[in-house]
Amino acid sequence: MDNRTKTEEAGFTPASRIAAIGVSKILQIGARAAAMKKDGLPVIILGAGEPDFDTPDNVKAAAKAAIDRGETKYTALDGTPELKKAISEKFRRENDVDYALDEITVATGAKQILFNAFMATIDPGDEVIIPTPYWTSYSDIVEICGGVPVLIPCDAEAGFRLKAEQLERAITPKTRWVLFNSPSNPSGAAYGEANYRPLLDVLLRHPHVWLMVDDMYEHIVYDGFRFVTPVAIEPRLKSRALTINGVSKAYAMTGWRIGYAGGPKALIKAMAVIQSQATSCPSSVSQAASVEALTGPQDFLKDRQASFKHRRDLVVSALNAIPGLACRTPEGAFYTFAGCAGVIGKVTPKGRRIEADSDFTDYLLEDAHVAVVPGSAFGLSPYFRISYATSEAELTEALKRIADACAKLA
Ligand SMILES: Cc1ncc(COP(=O)(O)O)c(C=O)c1O
Repeated sequence: MDNRTKTEEAGFTPASRIAAIGVSKILQIGARAAAMKKDGLPVIILGAGEPDFDTPDNVKAAAKAAIDRGETKYTALDGTPELKKAISEKFRRENDVDYALDEITVATGAKQILFNAFMATIDPGDEVIIPTPYWTSYSDIVEICGGVPVLIPCDAEAGFRLKAEQLERAITPKTRWVLFNSPSNPSGAAYGEANYRPLLDVLLRHPHVWLMVDDMYEHIVYDGFRFVTPVAIEPRLKSRALTINGVSKAYAMTGWRIGYAGGPKALIKAMAVIQSQATSCPSSVSQAASVEALTGPQDFLKDRQASFKHRRDLVVSALNAIPGLACRTPEGAFYTFAGCAGVIGKVTPKGRRIEADSDFTDYLLEDAHVAVVPGSAFGLSPYFRISYATSEAELTEALKRIADACAKLA
């Protein structure tokens, strides 16, 4: 895998299940940028996958109150009844989907939900269809679990969305899951009801294929985009669907580590078996905080959305003004995924030829001191991802540096 550093070092051989997997390119770039910053270089890091807002005060207060009440012990294996009730109400209120408490699971982040789900369902050689570009963890987790990621390229022209014909062609007798992430990390593209409908029709014709959806960025959408989760569009798929969500992005709670999902009882039970031997339960204090996040005031979400939209517009228009780059306007999340085909083949002032998007992002880091992530890290080239969850002043400066760096290419 070209976007990975192998974990093998002298004297140590990792288990075969992780032999091809290493530290993600995103973390490598982040570490390199942080080291450069420590050396005094004015590096701007546009790589972070987390909101730059603080966790709301009412949520922090709920956590403190839980500690004072002594809620500091193990909880029920896959979530407290209070949190499951809050999640069930959230699914009904915001998504128009009914999940009973025994159809809900809570884990240490949506990442652990994915891990539990794949561990509980994938046998060696089982295939998981992943529209590409994809969040890097999807394919890595599938591989760790012994599955085969089936990566289907969906470029900017296709709106970074999978088409029904592509899905139909990718399904084999070995297909276990298809995984949708809307709005998407890294592309920011989202599936509206009209985009989902033909894909769900394909799934109706293939009853052995299960549907996994990652709705993590549900609350970060723009321009009146109407978020909808697939099970609400097609209830006939509910008996073989897992609807994943979490508090990390919407409530700026990435460090609290709470993710959750709704799905059929048997799957939820199987996922609990994995969790019971991995973490025993999610953090008690974080669960209490998440109850408040989901049941407390929600109006601040709109303000945060407006702030992200302002920054999205700034980044998209600045990128599109740079010759050689092209950026589709994303419907949601806090990322842009701009094409950089126009700079491939050009030569940097130091005489290095840009052969791939990773050469371009290396050039931006070394010469412009701006850290962004190449499309290759997300399975699609030539593109690069900017996370605009940072201050407007930093974004403006970073975009000016990117423009200057591009102008210096010959
Ligand atoms: C698409 C997507 N899903 C899930 C996650 C994981 O979220 P959590 O913090 O709940 O593990 C992320 C985090 O970057 C993400 O981008």
